[in-house]
Amino acid sequence: MNKFFSLTLLLSLVLITHVYAQRKTIEQRVDSIMKLMTLSEKVGQLNQYSGREVTGPASDRKNYLLNDIKSGKVGSMLNVKGVKDTREIQAIALQSRLKIPLLFSLDVIHGYKTVFPIPLAESASWDLDVIRKSAQVAAEESAASGIHWTFAPMVDIARDPRWGRVMEGAGEDTYLGAKIATARVLGFQGDQLGAVDRIMACAKHFAAYGAAMAGRDYNPVDMSKQQLHEIYLPPFKAAADAGVATFMNSFNTLNGVPATGNSYLQRDILKGDWNYKGFVVSDWGSIKEMIPWGFAKNLNEASEKAILAGSDMDMESEAYKKELESLVNSGKVDIKFVDDAVRRILYKKFELGLFDNPYRFSDEKREKKVMNDPSYKKVALEAAQKSIVLLKNTNHLLPLKKDIKNIALIGPLVKAKRDQAGSWVVYADTANIVSVYEGVKQKVRGAKLTFAEGTAITGTLTTGFANAVNTAKNADIVVMVLGENWDMSGEAKSRTEIGIPGKQEELFKAIKATGKPVVVVIMAGRPLVFNTIAAQADAIVYAWFLGDQGGNAIADVLFGDFNPSGKLPISFPRNVGQIPIFYNHYNTGRPVTKPNDIRYKSAYIDAPNDPQYAFGHGLSYTDFHYSNLKLSETILNKDETLKINFTITNTGKVVGEEVVQLYIQDTFASVVRPVKELKDFAKVKLKPGESKEITFELAPEKLSFYHEEKGWIVEAGEFKIMIGAASDNIKLNSLFELRDR
Ligand code: GLC
Repeated sequence: MNKFFSLTLLLSLVLITHVYAQRKTIEQRVDSIMKLMTLSEKVGQLNQYSGREVTGPASDRKNYLLNDIKSGKVGSMLNVKGVKDTREIQAIALQSRLKIPLLFSLDVIHGYKTVFPIPLAESASWDLDVIRKSAQVAAEESAASGIHWTFAPMVDIARDPRWGRVMEGAGEDTYLGAKIATARVLGFQGDQLGAVDRIMACAKHFAAYGAAMAGRDYNPVDMSKQQLHEIYLPPFKAAADAGVATFMNSFNTLNGVPATGNSYLQRDILKGDWNYKGFVVSDWGSIKEMIPWGFAKNLNEASEKAILAGSDMDMESEAYKKELESLVNSGKVDIKFVDDAVRRILYKKFELGLFDNPYRFSDEKREKKVMNDPSYKKVALEAAQKSIVLLKNTNHLLPLKKDIKNIALIGPLVKAKRDQAGSWVVYADTANIVSVYEGVKQKVRGAKLTFAEGTAITGTLTTGFANAVNTAKNADIVVMVLGENWDMSGEAKSRTEIGIPGKQEELFKAIKATGKPVVVVIMAGRPLVFNTIAAQADAIVYAWFLGDQGGNAIADVLFGDFNPSGKLPISFPRNVGQIPIFYNHYNTGRPVTKPNDIRYKSAYIDAPNDPQYAFGHGLSYTDFHYSNLKLSETILNKDETLKINFTITNTGKVVGEEVVQLYIQDTFASVVRPVKELKDFAKVKLKPGESKEITFELAPEKLSFYHEEKGWIVEAGEFKIMIGAASDNIKLNSLFELRDR
């Protein structure tokens, strides 16, 4: 054996021993502190308060919180941020008998100080590096402000844009959602928890919260095990596999049982099958909410059901604090359930190094330095640029020429700043937010920019139309910025109609009637319905809510300094009646094969089945050509991996990025299968004339599906391979057969 090899072997043995010793050390340290803890102190670790009052003016609530913290009755605080406040509150916790440090948590959903695009927007980038980097910046800023733990990523699959929280996730697709979940967890946590510029992540909301009945928040969820396992759980599993430190359960019931009291979810699947070692925090008050659900008679029964079902930490119900000791002392709850929850929580506190230095995340100098890091603006700009989706571009109206003389900017979101930040922001510091008006002004200094708001975002005001029409008439081109305000999506923001609110579409019609070319930029936290604009606008740019750099990114796209590459992570319905609508639908026994032949077919008599814009749709300023599809074999054994090769060429005139998508269809199986399923994708940057050969590898497990009785199985049979620029824009097709062996 050569020297190098033996040295490497020796070094790795030392490393493994060290890591094992470390790990054993944390377990030993947890054991030793557990031995000292009273039942009351153990229950204290399972209690989490929101701390807005705890650092505010004197109040009864503040005293109540501080007393509990001082007496070791609190394990974590949420909504306490900043070095000053976290140090102050941590010092109080360290007055408790065992000096167990607090975990400070916060909803750092799409940025802390630097505001990034809302998660659904970032998902439209399909750029896992950008998504990871954005989460990393959020971690660096929040960790420098005393935060240990974010309640993100939200990984709920959502196929219903009436649901306001669709803005917070990665859209409708399981494969894309799982990849993005992994990227976000690694961005927040790094490869290994414990670095002082990384924070614990939290996969939420476990589980299937995005399938709330009728798109109404907090509503029940009913679905088959097959749908649950195949569509909704994989992004959670991906987060767990990426080492996500915590899970958060959800407000909904799953098949009649509230998630927070659902041992099938939390014990059988999460802590059982998946052998998950982190801890589960209940969503805000969800333990107590089992009473109005009619699943618990009182707080005592709610606490019992929650702890037995695997909810480790109680956010804001005070259920465990008030009831758990008596439940254990009465023998209704075995202490082992409490011990398991405490152990999981203490383990994370040790992993974060908080027992060695409870203030290690609360460093004044670091906070100052990190908070003003100019490099973060660049990361935010790139994320914003890549999140933009070009939906329509008739006659290549876009990109606009920079020597245009007179540009009219019209609409209620032209100068919007707070709206650009979207929902779920920690600081919406408008001083840092660039509006579209500012972005365009910065971009085309020579042009005459005129502005008219025209109407408000909501309401029925049309008094501004005349001025807006006049402004349009005097311009060479009109850029309208329309959409929702930031507070029309997010938690508890479900909508029964998802049109562009107020009189904005009417305003568009009035402007369109002037005969001027009209570009429409739409800002929203969800897919909106805008059929008139879709039909009559010359170009449409979907800008979601892009955060601080939104105005610059939109201007970069409008004037061609950035070639849009975003692709929709969610289907856009033609109307609310089509919902739920998603690309991986089923063929049915009566598929529509010819557009007008719908009699006795699975169709509507008043609208087509297909969406306004499909999952994966997004245009570019250049063109791409797909060719040379080759499969490594057309007959595949179950122990083999299929290689899929094809060539993509930039046949246009400018550099561009294309998201090439691999879909499959299992053409027949013992459980009906979707007409297509995304199984891989790649974002490819090409210069004009440049070609690149792409290889996707398709291992048999990617062909598996969930069977109610047998679980995950792979069945032999025929499979279609589709390479697309969108789910409704398939460029290359082929077939192969999977054989049992
Ligand atoms: C909320 C949300 C959850 C969030 C928590 C703390 O109700 O459902 O996503 O993390 O409360 O703010």
